[in-house]
Amino acid sequence: MNRASRKRVAILISGRGSNMSALIAAAKAPDYPAEIVLVASNRPEAIGLRHARAAGIPTSSLDHRGHDRESFERALQDALAGARVELICLAGFMRLLTPWFVDRWAGRMLNIHPALLPAFKGLDTHARALAAGVRIHGATVHFVSAEMDSGPIVAQAALSVLDSDDVETLAARVLDLEHRIYPLALKLVAEGRVQIIDGRCRIDGTTPSDETLLAPPGSD
Ligand code: GRF
Repeated sequence: MNRASRKRVAILISGRGSNMSALIAAAKAPDYPAEIVLVASNRPEAIGLRHARAAGIPTSSLDHRGHDRESFERALQDALAGARVELICLAGFMRLLTPWFVDRWAGRMLNIHPALLPAFKGLDTHARALAAGVRIHGATVHFVSAEMDSGPIVAQAALSVLDSDDVETLAARVLDLEHRIYPLALKLVAEGRVQIIDGRCRIDGTTPSDETLLAPPGSD
Protein backbone atom coordinates (compact mmCIF):
# COMPACT_ATOMS: atom_id res chain seq x y z
CA MET A 1 0.00 0.00 0.00
CA ASN A 2 1.27 3.42 -0.99
CA ARG A 3 2.34 5.18 2.23
CA ALA A 4 0.61 8.39 1.23
CA SER A 5 -2.76 6.68 0.90
CA ARG A 6 -2.72 5.10 4.34
CA LYS A 7 -5.19 6.67 6.76
CA ARG A 8 -3.58 8.58 9.60
CA VAL A 9 -4.83 7.15 12.90
CA ALA A 10 -4.59 8.29 16.52
CA ILE A 11 -5.21 5.86 19.37
CA LEU A 12 -6.55 7.23 22.64
CA ILE A 13 -5.76 5.21 25.76
CA SER A 14 -5.96 5.49 29.54
CA GLY A 15 -4.17 2.34 30.68
CA ARG A 16 -2.21 -0.72 29.63
CA GLY A 17 -2.88 -0.34 25.93
CA SER A 18 -2.98 -3.96 24.79
CA ASN A 19 -5.50 -3.13 22.04
CA MET A 20 -3.28 -0.23 21.07
CA SER A 21 -0.35 -2.65 20.73
CA ALA A 22 -2.47 -4.96 18.56
CA LEU A 23 -3.30 -2.04 16.26
CA ILE A 24 0.34 -0.90 16.13
CA ALA A 25 1.43 -4.46 15.27
CA ALA A 26 -1.18 -4.77 12.51
CA ALA A 27 -0.21 -1.40 11.03
CA LYS A 28 3.38 -2.61 10.62
CA ALA A 29 2.28 -4.75 7.67
CA PRO A 30 3.15 -2.88 4.48
CA ASP A 31 -0.28 -3.54 2.98
CA TYR A 32 -2.24 -2.35 6.05
CA PRO A 33 -4.36 0.65 5.03
CA ALA A 34 -3.72 2.73 8.17
CA GLU A 35 -0.71 4.05 10.04
CA ILE A 36 -0.64 4.96 13.71
CA VAL A 37 0.67 8.51 13.86
CA LEU A 38 -0.19 9.40 17.47
CA VAL A 39 -1.03 7.76 20.78
CA ALA A 40 -2.66 10.13 23.27
CA SER A 41 -3.61 9.49 26.87
CA ASN A 42 -5.58 11.41 29.47
CA ARG A 43 -3.37 9.74 32.07
CA PRO A 44 0.34 10.58 31.86
CA GLU A 45 1.16 7.45 33.89
CA ALA A 46 -0.59 5.08 31.43
CA ILE A 47 1.69 2.09 30.80
CA GLY A 48 0.53 2.04 27.19
CA LEU A 49 2.34 5.34 26.53
CA ARG A 50 5.63 3.60 27.29
CA HIS A 51 4.84 0.79 24.87
CA ALA A 52 3.89 3.31 22.18
CA ARG A 53 7.16 5.19 22.61
CA ALA A 54 9.08 1.92 22.50
CA ALA A 55 7.35 1.21 19.19
CA GLY A 56 8.49 4.59 17.89
CA ILE A 57 5.03 6.21 17.86
CA PRO A 58 4.74 9.89 18.87
CA THR A 59 2.74 10.28 22.09
CA SER A 60 0.79 13.05 23.73
CA SER A 61 -0.23 13.04 27.34
CA LEU A 62 -2.96 15.42 28.40
CA ASP A 63 -3.78 15.06 32.06
CA HIS A 64 -7.52 15.58 32.36
CA ARG A 65 -7.09 16.52 36.02
CA GLY A 66 -6.69 20.26 36.10
CA HIS A 67 -8.61 20.69 32.85
CA ASP A 68 -12.33 21.17 32.50
CA ARG A 69 -13.91 18.96 29.84
CA GLU A 70 -13.91 21.70 27.24
CA SER A 71 -10.28 22.75 27.59
CA PHE A 72 -9.20 19.08 27.73
CA GLU A 73 -10.99 18.31 24.48
CA ARG A 74 -9.73 21.46 22.78
CA ALA A 75 -6.15 20.49 23.68
CA LEU A 76 -6.82 16.97 22.41
CA GLN A 77 -8.29 18.34 19.20
CA ASP A 78 -5.20 20.53 18.71
CA ALA A 79 -2.90 17.51 19.15
CA LEU A 80 -4.96 15.53 16.62
CA ALA A 81 -4.98 18.37 14.12
CA GLY A 82 -1.23 18.85 14.59
CA ALA A 83 -0.67 15.19 13.65
CA ARG A 84 -3.13 15.47 10.71
CA VAL A 85 -5.19 12.62 12.14
CA GLU A 86 -8.01 11.23 9.97
CA LEU A 87 -9.38 8.44 12.19
CA ILE A 88 -9.44 7.88 15.95
CA CYS A 89 -9.44 4.54 17.76
CA LEU A 90 -10.46 4.61 21.41
CA ALA A 91 -8.73 1.71 23.16
CA GLY A 92 -9.49 1.60 26.86
CA PHE A 93 -9.96 5.38 26.90
CA MET A 94 -11.81 5.93 30.18
CA ARG A 95 -13.13 9.42 29.68
CA LEU A 96 -16.54 10.42 28.40
CA LEU A 97 -16.32 12.68 25.38
CA THR A 98 -18.70 15.60 24.92
CA PRO A 99 -21.04 15.97 21.92
CA TRP A 100 -18.74 18.77 20.68
CA PHE A 101 -15.90 16.27 20.22
CA VAL A 102 -18.03 13.27 19.21
CA ASP A 103 -19.88 15.25 16.49
CA ARG A 104 -16.61 16.55 15.10
CA TRP A 105 -15.38 12.97 14.67
CA ALA A 106 -18.70 11.35 13.69
CA GLY A 107 -18.08 8.38 11.40
CA ARG A 108 -14.32 8.68 11.99
CA MET A 109 -13.97 7.46 15.59
CA LEU A 110 -14.07 3.81 16.68
CA ASN A 111 -14.27 2.20 20.10
CA ILE A 112 -13.85 -1.35 21.33
CA HIS A 113 -16.16 -2.69 23.99
CA PRO A 114 -15.69 -6.01 25.84
CA ALA A 115 -19.21 -7.39 25.27
CA LEU A 116 -21.61 -8.16 22.47
CA LEU A 117 -23.40 -4.82 22.26
CA PRO A 118 -26.10 -3.80 22.89
CA ALA A 119 -25.77 -6.22 25.82
CA PHE A 120 -23.68 -5.13 28.78
CA LYS A 121 -22.93 -1.50 28.00
CA GLY A 122 -20.69 0.23 30.53
CA LEU A 123 -18.22 -1.29 32.98
CA ASP A 124 -17.70 -4.75 34.52
CA THR A 125 -19.05 -6.49 31.44
CA HIS A 126 -17.54 -9.90 32.20
CA ALA A 127 -18.88 -10.07 35.76
CA ARG A 128 -22.31 -9.04 34.52
CA ALA A 129 -22.22 -11.56 31.67
CA LEU A 130 -21.37 -14.33 34.16
CA ALA A 131 -24.07 -13.17 36.57
CA ALA A 132 -26.63 -13.14 33.75
CA GLY A 133 -25.62 -16.67 32.75
CA VAL A 134 -25.19 -15.89 29.06
CA ARG A 135 -23.68 -18.77 27.08
CA ILE A 136 -22.20 -16.54 24.38
CA HIS A 137 -20.16 -13.42 25.08
CA GLY A 138 -17.60 -11.42 23.14
CA ALA A 139 -16.43 -8.04 21.94
CA THR A 140 -17.66 -5.27 19.67
CA VAL A 141 -16.00 -2.55 17.60
CA HIS A 142 -18.37 0.32 16.92
CA PHE A 143 -18.41 3.91 15.78
CA VAL A 144 -18.65 6.33 18.67
CA SER A 145 -21.90 8.24 19.01
CA ALA A 146 -23.08 10.69 21.66
CA GLU A 147 -24.67 7.93 23.74
CA MET A 148 -22.12 5.64 25.41
CA ASP A 149 -21.49 2.22 23.79
CA SER A 150 -24.28 2.79 21.29
CA GLY A 151 -22.89 3.73 17.86
CA PRO A 152 -23.14 1.67 14.66
CA ILE A 153 -21.47 -1.75 14.99
CA VAL A 154 -18.57 -2.51 12.63
CA ALA A 155 -17.42 -5.92 13.91
CA GLN A 156 -18.15 -8.42 16.65
CA ALA A 157 -16.45 -11.57 17.83
CA ALA A 158 -18.11 -14.18 20.01
CA LEU A 159 -17.06 -17.09 22.19
CA SER A 160 -18.74 -19.70 24.36
CA VAL A 161 -18.83 -19.01 28.06
CA LEU A 162 -17.51 -22.08 29.87
CA ASP A 163 -19.05 -23.40 33.07
CA SER A 164 -15.58 -23.13 34.57
CA ASP A 165 -15.12 -19.45 33.62
CA ASP A 166 -14.53 -16.74 36.17
CA VAL A 167 -14.07 -13.05 35.44
CA GLU A 168 -10.34 -13.43 34.83
CA THR A 169 -10.50 -16.37 32.42
CA LEU A 170 -13.41 -14.86 30.52
CA ALA A 171 -11.71 -11.45 30.31
CA ALA A 172 -8.51 -13.03 29.00
CA ARG A 173 -10.28 -14.92 26.23
CA VAL A 174 -12.39 -11.90 25.25
CA LEU A 175 -9.27 -9.72 25.20
CA ASP A 176 -7.69 -12.14 22.77
CA LEU A 177 -10.72 -11.69 20.50
CA GLU A 178 -10.48 -7.91 20.89
CA HIS A 179 -6.92 -8.00 19.63
CA ARG A 180 -8.15 -9.82 16.54
CA ILE A 181 -11.25 -7.78 15.65
CA TYR A 182 -9.94 -4.27 16.28
CA PRO A 183 -7.27 -4.46 13.55
CA LEU A 184 -9.84 -6.07 11.26
CA ALA A 185 -12.43 -3.35 11.89
CA LEU A 186 -9.90 -0.53 11.46
CA LYS A 187 -8.76 -2.09 8.19
CA LEU A 188 -12.31 -2.13 6.83
CA VAL A 189 -12.95 1.47 7.89
CA ALA A 190 -9.58 2.73 6.61
CA GLU A 191 -10.25 1.07 3.26
CA GLY A 192 -13.52 3.02 3.03
CA ARG A 193 -15.55 -0.18 2.94
CA VAL A 194 -17.87 0.68 5.82
CA GLN A 195 -20.90 2.84 5.18
CA ILE A 196 -23.31 3.92 7.87
CA ILE A 197 -26.88 3.70 6.61
CA ASP A 198 -29.78 4.42 8.98
CA GLY A 199 -27.56 3.82 11.99
CA ARG A 200 -26.28 0.44 10.75
CA CYS A 201 -22.99 -0.38 9.11
CA ARG A 202 -22.94 -1.87 5.64
CA ILE A 203 -19.63 -3.47 4.73
CA ASP A 204 -18.61 -3.75 1.11
CA GLY A 205 -16.65 -6.60 -0.37
CA THR A 206 -16.60 -9.16 2.43
CA THR A 207 -17.44 -12.77 1.70
CA PRO A 208 -20.78 -13.56 3.33
CA SER A 209 -20.64 -16.30 5.94
CA ASP A 210 -23.48 -17.76 7.93
CA GLU A 211 -21.17 -19.42 10.43
CA THR A 212 -22.93 -20.26 13.68
CA LEU A 213 -21.69 -20.72 17.21
CA LEU A 214 -23.68 -23.14 19.36
CA ALA A 215 -23.07 -22.95 23.08
CA PRO A 216 -23.17 -25.55 24.44
CA PRO A 217 -22.33 -27.45 21.24
CA GLY A 218 -25.10 -29.55 19.69
CA SER A 219 -23.47 -32.87 20.56
CA ASP A 220 -20.14 -34.28 21.64
C1 GRF B 1 -10.52 -3.48 26.76
O1 GRF B 1 -11.16 -4.57 27.34
C2 GRF B 1 -11.47 -2.68 25.94
O2 GRF B 1 -12.46 -3.44 25.34
C3 GRF B 1 -12.09 -1.75 26.95
O3 GRF B 1 -11.04 -1.42 27.83
C4 GRF B 1 -10.08 -2.47 27.82
C5 GRF B 1 -8.77 -1.83 27.47
O4 GRF B 1 -7.71 -2.74 27.53
N1 GRF B 1 -12.70 -0.61 26.30
P1 GRF B 1 -6.31 -2.35 26.89
O5 GRF B 1 -5.87 -1.03 27.54
O6 GRF B 1 -6.49 -2.22 25.42
O7 GRF B 1 -5.39 -3.47 27.27
